[in-house]
Amino acid sequence: MAYILGVDIGTSGTKTVLFSEDGVPVASATYEYPLYTPQNGYAEQEPLDWWNAVVNGIKQVIHESGVIASEIKGVGLSGQMHGLVMLDKDNNVIRRSIIWCDQRTAKEVVEITNKVGADRLIDITANPAITGFTAAKIMWVKNNEPENYEKCRHILLPKDYIRFMLTGEYATEVSDASGMQLLDIPNRCWSDEVLDKLGIDKSLLAKVYESPEITGRITKRVAELTGLAEGTIVVGGAGDNAAAAVGTGVVEDGKAFTTIGSSGVVFAHTSDISIDKKGRVHTFCCAVPNCWHVMGVTQSAGLSLKWFRDNLCWSEMETALNMGVDPYYLTDKEAMEVPIGANRLIYLPYLNGERTPHLDPNCRGAFVGLSTMHKKKDMIRAVMEGVSYSLRDCVEVMREMQINVTDMMACGGGGSSPLWRQMLADLYACPVKTTQNKEGPALGVALLAAVGAGIYSSVPEACKAVILPDKVQNPIEENTKEYEKVYAVYKKLYPAMKSCFNELANI
Ligand code: XUL
Repeated sequence: MAYILGVDIGTSGTKTVLFSEDGVPVASATYEYPLYTPQNGYAEQEPLDWWNAVVNGIKQVIHESGVIASEIKGVGLSGQMHGLVMLDKDNNVIRRSIIWCDQRTAKEVVEITNKVGADRLIDITANPAITGFTAAKIMWVKNNEPENYEKCRHILLPKDYIRFMLTGEYATEVSDASGMQLLDIPNRCWSDEVLDKLGIDKSLLAKVYESPEITGRITKRVAELTGLAEGTIVVGGAGDNAAAAVGTGVVEDGKAFTTIGSSGVVFAHTSDISIDKKGRVHTFCCAVPNCWHVMGVTQSAGLSLKWFRDNLCWSEMETALNMGVDPYYLTDKEAMEVPIGANRLIYLPYLNGERTPHLDPNCRGAFVGLSTMHKKKDMIRAVMEGVSYSLRDCVEVMREMQINVTDMMACGGGGSSPLWRQMLADLYACPVKTTQNKEGPALGVALLAAVGAGIYSSVPEACKAVILPDKVQNPIEENTKEYEKVYAVYKKLYPAMKSCFNELANI
């Protein structure tokens, strides 16, 4: 039997899963690490924390599964997108990684737009300048930490830093590179024009591959460190969302998924490139060679509920520990006791600014409509509903772009909640499905490794062989009507509060 390894370097932790070639998980390990917020709107992580989590995860799954290293035919890497990792001439990390949800780069977004030109930027990178994307982070370091920029010899994305540590290669792949805002998205290569206009030296960037291509092999040192066999192939892999698409079988037109992870994403596959000229959703290359995807992102989805849980749900966390259940099982149960609309309480999930549809780094979260009657359970439900309204905003933009979605999957931690899936089905007014395969991005990149290793001939073929459908939740008409009333108010709140968010940010 052949095995494939998927490693997903996420924001809260790294998940490493060993699969048999037919996609069945045989061992899994998750190692968590901190997120640093040195200032409001900043978000950083330590690349060596990711590396330790990867090494420990690989060692653990090989040990627990008892699989012989030579039977592991390939490694696929997935991870949080957009993070900036800078290496010096000796390949040392220069500063903590500024990660995807960091919002410090508002000035650089203006600078990038001015230097490249708003229309040209959309033509080439398929997106307007965005605070979360890597180009703005690079420009921020250039502007604010010139001594660090001076030292920089290599710029890598989070999972590509791990690839470098595993193989010694400076390589990336089209899906994650799309989120740097330096890639020519229609042509799937670095854009000389954007690099020249921003004054970024192309030699700092990694070589670009398609996602299932072989990018390097496990070195002798890493083999000794992890238990993998020296020479095992490492394929391009994919950014977490493009990887989740493969892991849920979203590899053909008409298919889409919603993920509620730290961020929330609505992702639709497109075999032709389709760009929102207003830049409210991203268009990126996807993990299927020569295809793209359109993606709406709400910055704080699962992160909103995690923030609420960590700060206000200590009793649930303690009870969950005693009962041996996930704290979210208890928060779900509480939310289920509350009617749709959370007793007229609305939550805006803009804890870290927002992308789709507002593209505003300065907006922040809010509970609107709080009253003495509200209990914690109302707030939990409002948080879940607020995130769902924001995901509905993403679907609205895609509908406007005539992207026809016939098949909507749900995934991510939040997607495993039946309550949250029902909210999505009711708000999208379409069935929301799940797959039996629960490993999302880790499975997606393991399948890319299987294609790279020649076990399957293409990404769609791998998905056909491995991804199995599971439950379907259908929209309930009466619920849809109730949600529509609240969603109509939700939509008015951001425009009404926009200037206050700006003023607040400038105090
Ligand atoms: C996508 C995005 C997030 C991160 C973290 O553009 O920023 O989904 O990849 O998960």
